[in-house]
Amino acid sequence: MKSPDHSAWRGKDVTEDAGPILRWVCRIGFLIPAIGAVLRSMFWPAFLLLTTALPGTTSAQTSDQVRSFQSIFEPIGAPAETVHRTDVLALLVCLGIFVVVGGLLLYAVVRYRQRPTDDDTTEPPQVYGSTAIELAWTVPPILIVIVLALATARTVGEIQNTKFTGDPVQITIIGHRFWWELRYPKYNIVTANEIHVPVSYLSTPRPIELTLESADVAHGFWVPELNGKQWLVPGVQNKWWIQPTTLGTYLGNCTVLCGLQHANMLIRVIVESPDDFDRWVTREERPPTFDPNVGEGRRDFEVNSCGSCHTIEGTTSNGIFGPDLTHFMSRKTLGAGVAPNKDEYLRSWLRDPQVLKPGCRMPDMKLNDRQIGQIVAYLKTLN
Ligand code: CUA
Repeated sequence: MKSPDHSAWRGKDVTEDAGPILRWVCRIGFLIPAIGAVLRSMFWPAFLLLTTALPGTTSAQTSDQVRSFQSIFEPIGAPAETVHRTDVLALLVCLGIFVVVGGLLLYAVVRYRQRPTDDDTTEPPQVYGSTAIELAWTVPPILIVIVLALATARTVGEIQNTKFTGDPVQITIIGHRFWWELRYPKYNIVTANEIHVPVSYLSTPRPIELTLESADVAHGFWVPELNGKQWLVPGVQNKWWIQPTTLGTYLGNCTVLCGLQHANMLIRVIVESPDDFDRWVTREERPPTFDPNVGEGRRDFEVNSCGSCHTIEGTTSNGIFGPDLTHFMSRKTLGAGVAPNKDEYLRSWLRDPQVLKPGCRMPDMKLNDRQIGQIVAYLKTLN
């Protein structure tokens, strides 16, 4: 078979036979994606600059107020402010690169656009090798990488080498698929997913020292307002810290893909006044009181082996695979933030956890309506 003769196309404008209108459509059709690309590339820098320029738009006033969206541009406390400085430097460098590259692109699109007087039959001059251009696109990028690497190393060092003064709160955070176990060793508290910490005042800073571990696979801890990301790796103890200076509830996420419900292991950091924090500690340290009115529910909980995964202090339930439920009602959410801690969601969770959180480790326990009602009544007494 004869191969097609590509050379026949050489220098032939495909719009040649199309008439003037179609030719213009082709030209505009070429320009629109180019303009679109420039506009698209401007969106995120513009968005980031706008959100930086409008600080405080989402600031919380009380410890119950949840920050509606997570932002690296509103750092709360020392380590986050250090990270923020490096972020701004990196963004400014990127903005400079954007202006230079976008400007050159725009210049090329306009200056070398197709014109009616163009000679379409010959190739433009072919240039091979230019020392000046090659130096221009290798030397500045290398310098930029060196500057950013040094700035990052300084930030990491500053955060890691901080010596704590005062009376730091210590919390051990253990990542599980798909929830967070929280231990406060000084207070003998074990809870899950909702991290209560006292606010730091300028006069009395109170750093929160975090020890990060994992029970299964690698997870990542990130609450953007409070610090950068840190890993939770099985068999390793990573140190991290936060020092929030504004009341509020701050949301965070797991940052390492750890399985089906990776997106639904939410972190809530509740920054409260020192008094509120002390009240919370007192409540969590208190052994649970047993309400005889919910004895049936407690029995259902135990015979359905809920206790082989969950701990309720003072009972035979002492499992470690699921969240500690001793003070279950002190938490505002279920399933690491997938639903509010309210009756209807709790019933749905007990009927089949796989509905609210498909792929979570808690199986459908095949409870009937009567058992579900009694267990809900029991759990609601766990203050
Ligand atoms: Cu844990 Cu992703």
